[in-house]
This record gives sequence, structure tokens and C-alpha cells, in this order.
Amino acid sequence: MNPELISLATHARSNAYCPYSGYAVGCALLTSKGQTFVGCNFENLSYGACICAERGAIGAMIVAGDREISELTVVTCDGGTPCGMCLQVIHEFAGPDLRINCVDPQGKGRTYNLRELFPFAFHSDKVGKNN
Ligand code: THU
Repeated sequence: MNPELISLATHARSNAYCPYSGYAVGCALLTSKGQTFVGCNFENLSYGACICAERGAIGAMIVAGDREISELTVVTCDGGTPCGMCLQVIHEFAGPDLRINCVDPQGKGRTYNLRELFPFAFHSDKVGKNN
């Protein structure tokens, strides 16, 4: 596991805005160009408007003109894995071998690859056929 990503994600998590769930999440990702981006979850009284840490980090990557994730780390209190919506968004910008490190604040957890967390992603062959 890349220690810099753990440290960046832990710092990002300290800024999480999660008054409704109490579940703080930090994410740091490395791109194929060697850049790093971070995100934390930020919630809203209108619960459907909550944004996950992973999608925040990916948004920052896109704004900077990067498109390819080469490693991603999520820090939570319990080493939880990304939600399905975030996995689909990660899938847009990474291959199935992407390493996803899910750790607690002590760095304890495990590494998964995208394929095992999200074996049945929605694929681009489904769209654009007008049927
Ligand atoms: N959350 C994330 O930031 N990432 C995930 O992949 C799962 C859930 C956040 C959303 C919400 O602010 C809180 O965790 C509880 O669902």
C-alpha cells in the first residue's frame, strides 16, 4: 500500500462534513501521470445531495485534466469499501486491475482490485444503440 496515499486520504478525511451519518471518509488517488488528488464526503440536509469522498477526488482529477486512476485509497473508521455508485464512477476511469486500498486510520485493512469489488459494472456496449 502506498503510504503517501494513506496519509493524504487521512488528512482529507479530517475535513469530512458528515453531521448526518457521522461516517467520515477520505480518499486519495494516484493517476497514471503521477498526480494525486483527494476528496472527503460532504453531506447535505437533503440526503440525496450527499457526495462521497471518492467522487470528490475523481472530480478534482477531471478538473485537472487527468483521466486515468492507477491506485486509490479510502480511509474510514473501519476500512469500509466504496459504495456501488462510486465503483461505477471509478470504473469509468480505471481498469479492472486497479488496486483499491481500504483502511482504517491506523492503516489496517486490505487491498482489493476493482474487478473483485465490482464484477458486473455497467458497460459502454449498452448505450448509444437507440433500442
Ligand atoms: N460515503 C463515501 O464517502 N464513500 C462511499 O463509498 C460510501 C459512503 C459517505 C457518504 C455519506 O456521507 C456517508 O459515507 C454515509 O453513507
